[in-house]
Amino acid sequence: MGRPKERQAFKEGSKKFNGLTRENTVGIFGLALGDEGKGRIIDNYIEELLKKPKIKTVWVIRFNGGNNAGHTLIDREGQRLAVHLVSSIVLHSKTRGIMDRGMVIHPEDLKTEIEYLEKRVGSLRDRIFLSEEAILCTDLERAEETLNSITRGEAKGGTGRGISPAYAHHYDRQGLKIYDLLGRGWEQILARQYDIYQKRFAAFGLNLSQMTVPDFSQTHLLGSKKDFLNRLRKARAWLVRRKMVVNTFILHKKIAQDPTCGILFEGAQGIGLDPWLGTRPDVTSSNTRASGVEEGTAYWRAGDIQEKVGIFKITYSSSVGARQMPTQIALPKNIDDLADNCSREQSWAKFVVEQAHEFGTTTGRRRDICFLDLAFLIYNARMGGVETLVGTHLDTAREDWSIKVCTHYTDKKGEIVSYQPGLRYLEGVIPHYIELPGWDGNVCQKARSFKELPENAVKFLAFIQVRTGYPIVVATCGPARENFIRF
Ligand code: IMP
Repeated sequence: MGRPKERQAFKEGSKKFNGLTRENTVGIFGLALGDEGKGRIIDNYIEELLKKPKIKTVWVIRFNGGNNAGHTLIDREGQRLAVHLVSSIVLHSKTRGIMDRGMVIHPEDLKTEIEYLEKRVGSLRDRIFLSEEAILCTDLERAEETLNSITRGEAKGGTGRGISPAYAHHYDRQGLKIYDLLGRGWEQILARQYDIYQKRFAAFGLNLSQMTVPDFSQTHLLGSKKDFLNRLRKARAWLVRRKMVVNTFILHKKIAQDPTCGILFEGAQGIGLDPWLGTRPDVTSSNTRASGVEEGTAYWRAGDIQEKVGIFKITYSSSVGARQMPTQIALPKNIDDLADNCSREQSWAKFVVEQAHEFGTTTGRRRDICFLDLAFLIYNARMGGVETLVGTHLDTAREDWSIKVCTHYTDKKGEIVSYQPGLRYLEGVIPHYIELPGWDGNVCQKARSFKELPENAVKFLAFIQVRTGYPIVVATCGPARENFIRF
């Protein structure tokens, strides 16, 4: 009668399949329009994972975007450190980073960024890996972004980092990959690209060599074919010397099977910028949703990830770009030009810009300030595939100011209008607000636990949690690592 034993063995065995996710995996995704404060959240999550007894190394995987992104980290001395292409691993030694195949990589900028980071934090050798399948971006795609705005007669819509042409050429199959740069015939391949672009620019009466393109911190002239190839030759030689370009598919297999590895997927931009489900046409070009992990790594499924976290700013929202969000607060270009008799809302926006330093990490532009928009947030959480929320900037509040939150939109007749992706659905909608009492942001900054948070802050969090239907698992109350409160 071996039956009970078999039944027991079957039951034990089936337990193994209960959790279909990989243990110690976290995905961090922006819930709004980028700039939600993902870099520091990743830094905190790395620390939490490393505290687990089993975990010896944390792998941080960037799967989308390029150096249109800028993640700010604060080191132990309180100094700001910006990463653009490299994953946010630089403040911890027991970390490794992957720039995966879904990313767009500009090799010269990568070299400059790593050299800049190494001056600040020491050697990153053998800690950063780049997929040979990543999309290659050169100065040609950057010049093309300018050409696109010239031919359309519009100001540049993007960050100028060549992101949209690079992804466009992934789809039209005219673009190159990192393996093209590292292969033997690289010089002919890239010389041919230069020739093609030269013809295209000439057709518009433009001289390719005279185009100005941005680099890591400044701009330069694209120059002749020889100049272009020389710059790439240097970056290529550096990439070869660093031995950082690998087949990341094989790496993922190894990491997945090693229980001492924690894994963090670092989303760039925000779900609101997704090319399919974002504020089209002012969107970015890579999949910013949890499903972006799939094409961006070619190994992991969104369903493998144990915790899929959406990051949002708690008391307001921000936007960089040409788009006009319904809850946006009208401000002069230079915030210092605000008149003394400006509206209460404008004073609030000025306070936010100053308190939260709302200037782009990549472009340095002042961000537009909006009220928190729950209609937008709930849609992004649902379609972006996140399951929990992490709120940042809980300290951006004042006791004497109530906080306005948009709960829904209506049309002029008062009929409810749902948030749908695409700016055209936002035209003419009327946002409806609720005002909740504010709290002292300084008290928040000193809080180290839930108990120490001001009562109104807790009530505000509870309100968002109930309205969105998603649990808030963490709030941050300041830029330092200890301003991270897990509930
Ligand atoms: P692109 O990604 O450079 O093509 O820019 C397209 C749009 O996305 C522009 O409105 C950018 O300002 C915006 N964008 C791209 N990356 C970021 C980001 O990391 N944070 C905020 N906005 C971004």
